[in-house]
Formats: sequence, C-alpha cells, structure tokens
Amino acid sequence: MKLARLSGLVSILTVSVVNAADLQSSPYAPVEVPCDASIQLVRKADGLSQNETDWLEKRDSHTQDALRNFLESATSNFSNNSLISRLFSDNSNAPRVAVACSGGGYRAMLSGAGMIAAMDDRTEGANEHGLGGLLQATTYLAGLSGGSWLVGSLAYNNWTSVQDIINHTSEANSIWNITASLASPGGTNSTLTNETWSIIMSDVISKQQAGYPVTITDYWGRALSYGFFPNAADGGVAYQWSSLRDNNIFRNGEMPFPISVADFRSPNTVTTYSNSTIFEFNPFEMGSWDENLHAFTDLKYLGTNVFNGVPITKGKCVTGFDNVGFVVGTSSSLFSPIMSPAIGILLNEGPLATVFAKAMGNDSNDVANYSPNPFRGIDLGYNSTASFSSDDYLYLADGGEDGETIPLAPLLQKEREVDIIFAFDNSADTPNGWPNGSALINTYKRQFTPQGRGMPFPHIPSSDEFVQLHLNERPVFFGCDANDLSDLDHVPPLVIYVPNAYHSFNSNQSTFKLAYDERERLGLIRNGFEATTRGNLTEDVRFRGCVACAIMRRQQERLNEPLPEECAKCFTDYCWDNKASNVTGNAWSNSSYTLSSTSGSTITLTPTSSAGSSSTSSASFAHNTSTLQNAAWRSGQTTYNIRPLVVMVCLFVVVSCNI
Ligand SMILES: *[C@@H]1O[C@H](CO)[C@@H](O)[C@H](O)[C@H]1NC(C)=O
Ligand SMILES: *[C@@H]1O[C@H](CO)[C@@H](O)[C@H](O)[C@H]1NC(C)=O
Ligand SMILES: *[C@@H]1O[C@H](CO)[C@@H](O)[C@H](O)[C@H]1NC(C)=O
Ligand SMILES: *[C@@H]1O[C@H](CO)[C@@H](O)[C@H](O)[C@H]1NC(C)=O
Ligand SMILES: *[C@@H]1O[C@H](CO)[C@@H](O)[C@H](O)[C@H]1NC(C)=O
Ligand SMILES: *[C@@H]1O[C@H](CO)[C@@H](O)[C@H](O)[C@H]1NC(C)=O
Ligand SMILES: *[C@@H]1O[C@H](CO)[C@@H](O)[C@H](O)[C@H]1NC(C)=O
Ligand SMILES: *[C@@H]1O[C@H](CO)[C@@H](O)[C@H](O)[C@H]1NC(C)=O
Ligand SMILES: *[C@@H]1O[C@H](CO)[C@@H](O)[C@H](O)[C@H]1NC(C)=O
Ligand SMILES: *[C@@H]1O[C@H](CO)[C@@H](O)[C@H](O)[C@H]1NC(C)=O
Ligand SMILES: *[C@@H]1O[C@H](CO)[C@@H](O)[C@H](O)[C@H]1NC(C)=O
Ligand SMILES: *[C@@H]1O[C@H](CO)[C@@H](O)[C@H](O)[C@H]1NC(C)=O
Repeated sequence: MKLARLSGLVSILTVSVVNAADLQSSPYAPVEVPCDASIQLVRKADGLSQNETDWLEKRDSHTQDALRNFLESATSNFSNNSLISRLFSDNSNAPRVAVACSGGGYRAMLSGAGMIAAMDDRTEGANEHGLGGLLQATTYLAGLSGGSWLVGSLAYNNWTSVQDIINHTSEANSIWNITASLASPGGTNSTLTNETWSIIMSDVISKQQAGYPVTITDYWGRALSYGFFPNAADGGVAYQWSSLRDNNIFRNGEMPFPISVADFRSPNTVTTYSNSTIFEFNPFEMGSWDENLHAFTDLKYLGTNVFNGVPITKGKCVTGFDNVGFVVGTSSSLFSPIMSPAIGILLNEGPLATVFAKAMGNDSNDVANYSPNPFRGIDLGYNSTASFSSDDYLYLADGGEDGETIPLAPLLQKEREVDIIFAFDNSADTPNGWPNGSALINTYKRQFTPQGRGMPFPHIPSSDEFVQLHLNERPVFFGCDANDLSDLDHVPPLVIYVPNAYHSFNSNQSTFKLAYDERERLGLIRNGFEATTRGNLTEDVRFRGCVACAIMRRQQERLNEPLPEECAKCFTDYCWDNKASNVTGNAWSNSSYTLSSTSGSTITLTPTSSAGSSSTSSASFAHNTSTLQNAAWRSGQTTYNIRPLVVMVCLFVVVSCNI
C-alpha cells in the first residue's frame, strides 16, 4: 500500500481544496462488504456473547494450569496449602483473574507496563522476585486511555511481552519509541514529521470522503499508532480491533481477553460516575452493560448503516471502521472543554498544532464520532435512553471522563465471574501527580446509582483518608471478607489495588507529557514492576504468598474451607475493610465523623480529629447519625439532606438518593 504524499501540508489542511483524485484510498477508510441478508448486528446485553463463552472455555484450560502453578509456588512455605487441590478439583471452583490498567497518558502506559511485567513469566526476574505467571493466569485484561494504549500495544503486536519490548528498545523501529513528541514524530527531521502528518491526514480525509464524519480523535488515534505499531505499514493503519478473532494466539486462548473502555459523551458536555454510559470494546463486540443502553453490536461491522441492528441495505455491511488506533484513541479522547487548553498548549508545535486548532473549532470535535449510530432504532424492550435509539451519531470520549479512571465496569459484570481484580492505578489525583483512590471511590459510588445497578464494588474510604492511611503508597486489598459485603447487590470480586508510587523513578509524570526518552521509559517500567512487587519482595518477602491468599479467598469462602493460617496475617497487613480496625495503622470507625450542625433538614458532619471519640449527635438524630457517619466515611460526602419518608431507603443506598 502506498499513500499519496501530498506536496504541501497547508494545502490539505483545508479539506475542501483536496482533489479526490489526488488521494488514493487508505485502508483507514471503511469499505462496503457483502454480508448475510438476515444478519442482526445488535443484541441485548443479557449475558455473555456465545463467542465469548466459547472463547472462555479455551482460555480457562490455560489459565487454570498457570494459576495452579503460581499458587503452589507462592504458598510452598505455608504450613498447609491443601486448599489449592480443593480449588482445582473441579473447573468451576478455580478462581478467575482480571487486570485493569488505568488511564494517565504515557505515564499510565509505561508504569502500567511495569505492573503487567511483574505478573508476566516472560519478564526477567518476575518468577524470582515478582508475581511471574499471573499474567498467564489472567482471563480479562482491560485498559482505559493510556492503559488501553498498553493493552492495545501488547494485544495487537501478537501478544508481545514488555520484556521483549525492552529487549529491542535500542533497535530501529522499536515499539514505544516515543523519544520524539507525538506532535513531531520525525524528531529533528522536519521532513519526516511533515511526511508522517501528510500520510495521517490522507488517511483521515480518505475516511471522510468515504462518507464518515471525522473528528480530532481520528488524527489522535492515527498519530499514536506510529508509536505502538512501528513495524506495520503506516503505523498499523490496517489493524482492526476485530482482527484478533483471526489471530491464532487469541483464538487458542493463549492470551487474555482485551477490553478497551470509553464513555458516552455528547460534544461539549461533561459526564460523571452517576450519569455516564460506559462502553467496552472487546474482540467480538462493542456496547454497554449499563441500564440505559444494555446492548452490544458486532464491532467488525461498525460503520454499517442500520436500523434496529439490521442493515438498511440488505446484504451490505461495512468493515474497517474498528481501526485499533481509533479504538484506543477513542478511549483516550480527553479533548473535553476542560482538557483541551492543556492539550492545546502541549501540542503547540509542528503541524499538529494547526490540525488541532482547526479541529477544535468544529463543534463536535471534542469527541469521537461513531457514525452511523450502530444502535439506531433499537427496540430491545429495555430502559434504553431514547437518544441511543434516535440519534444518527454515537459520540464517545475518554473512558476516564466520568472519574472512573480504572476500567473496572466490564470486570464487575456478574456473568464474567471474576474473583479477583488487579487494579493498576496510574492516575494523577494529588497535586504532585499521585493517585488518591478517586477512581475506586467513583466506581464504589456508581453502584448506588441506576446506571451502576448490579455492578457492586467493595467499600472504599474517602480520598482524604485514602491518603492519610497511605493506601496510595503500596498494594492494598479491598473486599477481603464477603460477610462485610452483604449490603451490596451481590458479592463483588476482591480487589488488589496497586497504586503508582515512588520506588526508583519519579513516576508522577504529567499526563500531558507526550515525549519520553529511553531512560525515562525504562525508569517508569522498572518503577511499575517494583510498585507491584513491594520493591521486588524486599519490603515483604511474604507478599507473593499474600497475593495467593487474596486470589483464593472468594472460592475459599464459597466452599467454606479453612483459610491457610498464613493468610490471616496477610489479611491483617493488606486488607482495608469497613470494620473498625487498625490494620493500616489508624483507628477506623464510623465515629471518624461527627455531626456538627443541623439546619432545617440538612445535616453536616465533620471528620473527628481524634478517631474513636464519641459522637456528639443530638438524641433525636442518634440513630440516623450513625448511619450517616458510615455514609460519610464511605463516600466522603459530609452534607446530608434528610427527607423523612425516604430516609431509610436512602440511608441504605447511600449516594443514589443524594440524601
Ligand atoms: C490441611 O488442611 C485441610 C483442610 O483444608 C485438612 O483437611 C488437612 O487435614 C490438613 N492437613 C494437615 C497435614 O494438617
Ligand atoms: C526489580 O526487578 C526488576 C525486574 O527484574 C528489575 O528491573 C529492577 O532493577 C529490580 N529492582 C531492584 C531495586 O533490584
Ligand atoms: C504472530 O505470531 C505467529 C506465531 O508465533 C507468527 O506466525 C506470525 O507471523 C506473527 N505475526 C506478526 C504480525 O508478528
Ligand atoms: C530478552 O533478552 C534476553 C537476553 O538478552 C533473553 O534471554 C530473553 O529471552 C529475552 N526475553 C524476551 C521476552 O524476548
Ligand atoms: C527513536 O526515535 C528518535 C526520534 O525519532 C530517533 O532519533 C531514534 O533513533 C529512535 N530510536 C531508535 C532506537 O530507533
Ligand atoms: C514542514 O511543514 C511546515 C508547515 O507546516 C513548514 O513550515 C516546513 O518548512 C516544512 N518542513 C519541511 C522540511 O518541509
Ligand atoms: C529525514 O527524513 C526523510 C524522509 O524519511 C529522509 O529521506 C531523510 O534522509 C531524513 N533526513 C535525515 C537528516 O535523516
Ligand atoms: C451529568 O452530570 C453532570 C453533573 O451533575 C452534569 O453537569 C451533566 O450535564 C450531566 N450529563 C448528562 C449527559 O446528563
Ligand atoms: C461469533 O462467532 C461466529 C462463528 O465464528 C462468527 O461467525 C460471528 O461473526 C461471531 N460474532 C461476533 C460478534 O464475534
Ligand atoms: C426499567 O427501570 C425500572 C425503574 O428503574 C425498573 O423497575 C425496571 O426493572 C427496568 N426494566 C428493566 C427491563 O430492567
Ligand atoms: C520460605 O521459607 C524460607 C525458610 O524459612 C525463607 O528463607 C524464605 O524466604 C521463605 N520464602 C517465602 C517466599 O516466604
Ligand atoms: C491494633 O493496635 C494495637 C495497639 O497498637 C495492637 O495491640 C493490636 O495488636 C493491633 N491489632 C491488629 C489487628 O493489628
């Protein structure tokens, strides 16, 4: 494939002056293909797709052996690890592992790479002083924004390893060579920069000329792809998310199920955890589990003009829309009105500045446009929001825009039967660019909203306490005891939270840093490895055994088997739970909040400085107050408006009523 190289950039910046004859069609442009006349592209999200179910059977046979090996080696010092043979005596008892990689630009991609490497038996040292083998035991691998760059880079480079990328890092065309800024891919060679951008523009214009509206996300995704697929023609222009179905490694279940997450967002609007519609892209489908859509479409045929899942032109479908760069670009499309000035300043170099400036002037350009809307005309007898069925366009944006920067939603679906989630948090929440648990808190709160119904998540402290208790400095387990989770919809997976924290490199780099030299890249990867392994097990040699305890926990509870005695100490050291406990060094009880004022029906609580002191609530509110105190330390919300009749319901579903 050879693309037209246009003589001057300026001439193609104005689309209207491009003569169609000057442009050869790019594989980036979707094309029409024949398809079955009776094809139905949309289904209701009332369970896993048959294809996913079939695939899981293949994956399970690989993960179960890998997990058993990991658990046996990690517990070889235990006084009694007979629980393992009990768990693997029957396929349905084997724990299922998932990994979620947060957003945060290249920082999240690289730090997350180190975290994944810590679990990969292909990484040097991972089996000796890490969690090597767990990636081989992982069923689902979700990524969002920078995390989806990571997942996409590995999955669509033939399931390469981080170690392999490191091994080749000083060779030409190495994966993740982001030494030069995204804006100037040629580095000091401005001819090369101009040429690359000229190709990118030809690609995007080619899609537009085929009749598909394009936005800034198209340019963004194409530009990013050169760093992920340097060996493929034109930065992987022909790679499609659905193409994994034809890859033997995926088909045979020899790699996890990759998922990229995005949020529905109309142009120039904002979304929060309480009103977001979370979309997932997996190798078979894209769509949402959330109540207001609750449908999936076959993503191979995105771009097909449909009504209620049926192509308008019978027997004609479209393929080539699900470009890998476009999918991960969508997941990281953070060009919201709030973010764009920062992006604008950072991209204020080279031809990209012009492209972006032009693109930002267009109304719908702060999002990705999935047009024609694959859900148009859906009538699934469900509570879908009318616009999903009536709009011509479907707009998607960065998966973290609703504050849930770790892609947990797909892993909380009951049908996926996940027992343990490794939540890699490379968010920048604090003023210094470290995480403070906000991503978990937002996911926790969402379960109490209509949108999050049926997606329970373990109890999480407020972000202030998260930081005070140093929960953002080393791995923490959430939801260790199913008995403490009985107030939720059902028992959620146990979560092993791994925050980005300093070990050997200042890994709190800006989300908007768009160039990393080799030293920085390797530094971030190494630091991520160390953050996941408690400094290569030097800070706690028992950590691997403790991870094994957490992995076995849910099934051990279900089977009502005894827990190996070593696990009790592990849970004391690593679990945060909502019982009063000094596990993490601080007293923790609902008296951490004191009722400080009541005015009409509004109650305000303030954190008590000395935890454990008794509440000063007035007698008439005494009963409700203790529940409110609970609510306050769970959610961080300190002002509550009491409405007498609904109060008991609202107290139970803490946030949804916004009491
Ligand atoms: C190990 O624990 C199992 C219960 O999980 C018990 O049946 C078995 O007797 C124990 N083995 C030893 C050697 O104590
Ligand atoms: C920890 O292990 C990783 C991977 O083996 C290695 O790159 C790193 O240098 C080690 N860190 C220390 C402090 O030894
Ligand atoms: C992927 O791996 C398979 C098997 O190792 C190999 O045959 C194939 O050429 C590889 N494809 C790419 C694109 O590297
Ligand atoms: C990385 O290189 C080392 C030797 O330098 C080799 O032993 C190892 O197998 C390579 N790892 C991968 C995953 O390619
Ligand atoms: C990485 O990219 C930079 C800038 O484009 C280039 O100068 C350098 O040679 C590349 N490194 C390798 C190992 O190819
Ligand atoms: C690259 O394009 C810019 C305009 O975007 C132009 O000013 C510059 O001269 C070009 N560089 C080369 C080497 O063509
Ligand atoms: C700059 O890139 C162009 C196009 O790839 C290439 O022909 C030229 O040799 C490069 N110049 C230098 C100094 O590397
Ligand atoms: C979501 O909620 C936020 C905050 O309440 C609001 O500003 C925004 O308009 C809402 N978005 C939608 C799509 O309803
Ligand atoms: C599911 O698998 C069947 C058989 O391989 C295939 O024809 C179909 O296109 C797949 N559908 C999706 C949505 O992946
Ligand atoms: C639609 O929403 C209503 C009210 O929230 C709920 O009672 C009902 O179960 C929902 N319908 C379906 C099919 O989920
Ligand atoms: C296992 O026990 C031996 C001997 O007590 C000790 O040296 C080693 O560090 C332990 N390993 C782990 C992973 O706990
Ligand atoms: C809690 O702290 C007290 C006093 O510091 C200590 O005696 C006790 O063992 C601790 N409990 C746990 C579960 O760590």
